[in-house]
Amino acid sequence: MIPVILCGGTGSRLWPLSREAYPKQFLSLTGSDTMLQATALRLDGIEEVQAPIVVCNEEHRFAAAEQLQEIGHKAQAILLEPCARNTAPAIALAALAALETGADPLLLVLPADHMVADVAAFQRAVAEASALAEAGHLVTFGIVPTRAETGYGYIRRGEAVGEGGWKVAEFVEKPDAATAERYLADGGYAWNSGIFLFRAARYIEELGQHQPEILDACRAAFAGAARDLDFTRVDAEAFSSCPEDSVDYAVMEKTESAAVVPMDAGWSDVGSWSALWELSERDDDDNLLHGDALAEDSSGCLVRADSRLVGLLGVRDLVVVDTDDALLIADKQRVQEVKRLVQRLNAAS
Ligand code: GDD
Ligand code: MG
Repeated sequence: MIPVILCGGTGSRLWPLSREAYPKQFLSLTGSDTMLQATALRLDGIEEVQAPIVVCNEEHRFAAAEQLQEIGHKAQAILLEPCARNTAPAIALAALAALETGADPLLLVLPADHMVADVAAFQRAVAEASALAEAGHLVTFGIVPTRAETGYGYIRRGEAVGEGGWKVAEFVEKPDAATAERYLADGGYAWNSGIFLFRAARYIEELGQHQPEILDACRAAFAGAARDLDFTRVDAEAFSSCPEDSVDYAVMEKTESAAVVPMDAGWSDVGSWSALWELSERDDDDNLLHGDALAEDSSGCLVRADSRLVGLLGVRDLVVVDTDDALLIADKQRVQEVKRLVQRLNAAS
């Protein structure tokens, strides 16, 4: 089994801590390990697990290599993308690299920006899913939904398959709010964790069937790759011509071979400041104070003070993130919209 660690996202909802030059997967948000390091460490102990293939943007190659080295890990390859084309192409590159060895290994696809509280439960779910993946299923790990989140994929369970799995009857990526409410009330749906297990050749087959243009572009980009020590730099021209799409839309919504295995492992996607607040331990006033921060008669707030003292007085449900060159003050209910600020900044620069 080869883990494929995806760390090419921008994490713009965690601005101003998460930046283009240093997105959230390379930051430590809760403990001392960065999210990439935690993702790699979570694999220790899985049976027959090989060194991971990391797929990231060219710009982050040293951050990725150094952070793995710091924890005594080493990737078997670091595939470098000249531009972001979302997850369907990123996984295709990893599958092509894995197939180069002549074998057809299982790929365990892992976003580098998740938190998993119960590592043993995570590893058990991966072990349970292996037989289904070996048999040709594209396995996703399902999470019991707790709110009508519109940023996730939803899976409707079909008939039981294998031991502890279900066929995916329907996969809906990022439904609108009304649909998400309906799925939550229905009770027959799971969230897609974004973690997948399948054989490399099966992914290539399905991608070729549903999104042949992506596969063709990735094949050309990989064939023209330049190797430089641990880094594999794919051909920029070929990869730039690749259509942009996520694995969820490109393959998971369309394939007939998807299966879901439940994962009850304290999973969370740390997508926004409110998500981080929710999953962290807070003080008696429900505040999450990080760094040099003081709060008086204030509650429900998140403060991240990285370089100077920040004081709160008489406020509720605020997010205050202070970095060297930028300060965010936001209503905690509206932090999903932080990406709008980032879009404006990008448009202005
Ligand atoms: N290498 C590479 N290249 N990685 C990428 C790229 C890319 O172009 N784009 C995104 N990634 C990485 C991100 O860094 C992240 O680790 C992972 O791929 C998933 O991308 P997100 O952009 O975070 O996806 P999402 O959160 O909107 O949705 C996915 O995850 C949800 C659960 O967290 C989907 O799989 C949903 O269905 C799922 O519910
Ligand atoms: Mg995500």
